[in-house]
Amino acid sequence: MENFEYYNPVKVVFGEGVLAQVGAYTAQYGKKALLVTYQRCDYFAQTIEAIQGSLAEAGVDCVVYKGITANPLISQVKGGVALCLEHGIDVIVALGGGSVIDAAKVIAAGVFYEGDPAGMLMLSHSDVTAKPPKRALPYIAIPTLAGTGSEMNPIGVITDDATGKKSYVWEPGCLYAKAAIMDPTLTVGLPPYQTACGGYDIFAHVMEAYINGDPEKDLTLHDRMQEGVMRAALEALEKVWENPADTQARGVMMWAASVALNGWLLSGTFAFTPMHQMGHVLSAKYNATHGATLACMMVSWMRYFENRPDNAKYVMLAKNVFGCDLRTAREQLDAAMRAKGVQTRISEFGVKEEDLDALTDMVVSVSFGPDGKLNGHPKMTREDIYQCYKLAL
Ligand SMILES: [Fe+2]
Repeated sequence: MENFEYYNPVKVVFGEGVLAQVGAYTAQYGKKALLVTYQRCDYFAQTIEAIQGSLAEAGVDCVVYKGITANPLISQVKGGVALCLEHGIDVIVALGGGSVIDAAKVIAAGVFYEGDPAGMLMLSHSDVTAKPPKRALPYIAIPTLAGTGSEMNPIGVITDDATGKKSYVWEPGCLYAKAAIMDPTLTVGLPPYQTACGGYDIFAHVMEAYINGDPEKDLTLHDRMQEGVMRAALEALEKVWENPADTQARGVMMWAASVALNGWLLSGTFAFTPMHQMGHVLSAKYNATHGATLACMMVSWMRYFENRPDNAKYVMLAKNVFGCDLRTAREQLDAAMRAKGVQTRISEFGVKEEDLDALTDMVVSVSFGPDGKLNGHPKMTREDIYQCYKLAL
C-alpha cells in the first residue's frame, strides 16, 4: 500500500434512540445553534421538534434554517452564513442526508471565510485558485440517509450556481464534525427510492476505491475489507427493501456508509472517483439523484471493462462480491437496481446522444488532471469517458 497518515476525530454516537443526546453534545460546543435542514422537511417535522426539545433542555437556543435542496447550491450556503452572522450562531446542527451535511460544513466555514464562500470550491482538481477554509464553526451531523458518509469526512460537495459546476470543498483541518449522532431509526420512513439510491452510493464509494487500486501495490487488506463492506451493504439494502422497518439492517447500511468514506478503506490507497466525477456532471445538469447517476455509471463501466485486458479488478469484484463472472455480475446489479426503480440509463434523466460531447467536456474541465486524463487505474482518456456515457444511454 501507499504510505499514509490517518486522522479522523469524529465522535460517533450510534444506535436506536441516540437522537435524544443531541442537546448534550451540542451544548459542549455552543449556546446558539443553527439547525440546518432541507427546504422540504415536512417528513422531518417530528425529528426537528425532538431536536429542538433536546437542545432547549441542554440550554441551547436554536434557529432553524430550512434552506437546503438535493445537490446544494453555494447560494444556499450563503443564506446559512448570513443567518449565522445575524443571530450570533456558535454551533451548527445538520439534519439530513449528504446534501444538508455538506452544505452545513461549508456554512460553518463560510462564517469565518474572507470573501465569497465560492472561493473555497475546487472547480477542478488542479485548481490552484481555490482557497480552502482555515477555520469553521463546530458542527454536529445527524444523517437521515445511509449513503454519502458525509458525517465522518471533511468534504462538502456543492454546486456553484454561477457556473453550474458541481465540485467540492475539502479541508481536514477544520471540516470534520465534532460528533455524528447516528440513529438508524431516522431512516425508517425514507422513500424507498431514496433508500435504494443511498445504498448504491455506498456501494459506489467502495467499488471506486476497489477497482482503482494500484495493481503495483499490495492491497490485500483493502481488497478484503472493501469486498466485505460491499457485500454487507448490498445485503442490508435487500433486507431493508423487503422490510423497511428492519432497523438492524438499516443500522448496517448507516454504518457501512460511514465506514466506506471515513478513511478505513481508503488510507494507503489513492481514492480516485471517476464514476463520481461523471455522475456529478449528470446531477448538476439534469438534477438527477446522486445514487442513480452512480447506478448508471457503475453498470456502464462494468460493461466497458467486460472485454478489456486490464479488467482484473473488475473480474475479482464479480467473483468475490457477486460470486460470478463479470457480465453476470453486471446484469445482476443492473436488475437489482431496476427492481427498485433506480435508473441505470442516463437517457432516463433526459440525456440524448447529442448531449454526450458537452457532458464529456464538463468532466474534462472539472476533473481531468494536468496530464489530460482522468485519474485512476487505468487512467481514462476523453474517449473512454465519452464511450462510458454512450454505453449508459
Ligand atoms: Fe457518493
